[in-house]
Amino acid sequence: MTRTSPGTGTHASAGAPLDVVEPHVAQNYSPIPVTAATAEGAWITDIDGRRHLDCLGAYSAVNFGHRHPRIVAAALDQLARVTLTSRAFRSDRLEPFCAALASLCGKDMVLPMNTGAEAVESGIKVARKWGYDVKGVPDGRATIVVASGNFHGRTTTIVSFSDDPEARAGFGPYTPGFVRVPFGDLAALDAAIDENTVAVLLEPVQGEAGVVVPPDDYLPGTRALCSERGVLFIADEIQSGLGRTGRTFAVEHWGVEPDVYLLGKALGGGLLPVSAVVADHDVLGVLHPGQHGSTFGGNPLAAAVGHTVVDMLADGTWQRRAAELGDHLHARLRDFVGNGVVAVRGLGLWAGIDLDPALGTGKDFCLRLSERNVLAKDTHGSTLRLAPPLVVTESEIDWAMDRFAATLRQAPVTADHD
Ligand SMILES: Cc1ncc(COP(=O)(O)O)c(C=O)c1O
Repeated sequence: MTRTSPGTGTHASAGAPLDVVEPHVAQNYSPIPVTAATAEGAWITDIDGRRHLDCLGAYSAVNFGHRHPRIVAAALDQLARVTLTSRAFRSDRLEPFCAALASLCGKDMVLPMNTGAEAVESGIKVARKWGYDVKGVPDGRATIVVASGNFHGRTTTIVSFSDDPEARAGFGPYTPGFVRVPFGDLAALDAAIDENTVAVLLEPVQGEAGVVVPPDDYLPGTRALCSERGVLFIADEIQSGLGRTGRTFAVEHWGVEPDVYLLGKALGGGLLPVSAVVADHDVLGVLHPGQHGSTFGGNPLAAAVGHTVVDMLADGTWQRRAAELGDHLHARLRDFVGNGVVAVRGLGLWAGIDLDPALGTGKDFCLRLSERNVLAKDTHGSTLRLAPPLVVTESEIDWAMDRFAATLRQAPVTADHD
């Protein structure tokens, strides 16, 4: 196992020592000191040949496991045909992919992009244009309501409406046009909507905030408010969607259908960035040639991979697997509550775990867990997030949970705690 030098922390400031392992890599991450050489299914093998169970799944981008054979085969097949045309020309892959994805979402149209943040940016642009062209909001006055604790990506506009100082500070001036209200608070949402509101943008379950599941009336109430007030409901399902929670989309747990889906991460099958805005024609139809674009968005390779992912989700097998294994994972995790764990949340194969702060930071805990060959990621403070690939087996979950328990038992007490 390769280790970074001591003193290379998350908050390295200008002049701090460089990471000795990756001195030429911009230090915007503080990785667990495991260097992947190969990966297959739910396992990553490091450069020293040690195998680690991947319990993060690249933040849900590896839902189908590393190098799923069907997705790799689709990519290899497409590599031998055509990979990139730009949207200046048509490819024979794009329309079939968009038709399949639109159908999965129960919508008419797809705007293909690449990264999650691009899908969010595109969704914001579409909502604003819809507000001006369809709703009749005065030019330049459109607002979008977002939630506290949100995480939608890293662009300047997106960090403008974040309330995470780490994500936001130092990157101003900030983009106006956003109103933030507490997540889960319908009264606050109601009060924030006015005649210039074009959209409510929410993660149905907040991943980065620690897999925070809203109260049961929240998403149905949001749907009702948006319909009553003529506002688009945009669901950012970039992390929560495509099987992770035991349903195709997390909103299904509450029987809710948003106006716009934002998708990414797992849509790229763990191979490449593929994202999308999915909506009906009365929303996405506001875009006309020249008004939005991306050189790589919807490229034939991405479309072939994305289409395979959509096909894989068609019969519900992955979703059922996530639900069943998720029940097992959560049952195991609940046993730890009161024994080093304060609370556990989540849906399907997705869990946020609040550790007893006396056990140290979430990052410290992940480091100790990685020494037992289980890879996970902290979010904020003492909260961990687990999102193993959906190919993980019940016995692998048990294996990881046994190591989790051992790590809890051995975690050093670093502070007084009552
Ligand atoms: C809910 C959500 N939206 C958007 C993004 C941004 O995606 P990307 O990192 O691909 O830009 C993320 C990434 O974690 C996310 O969790």
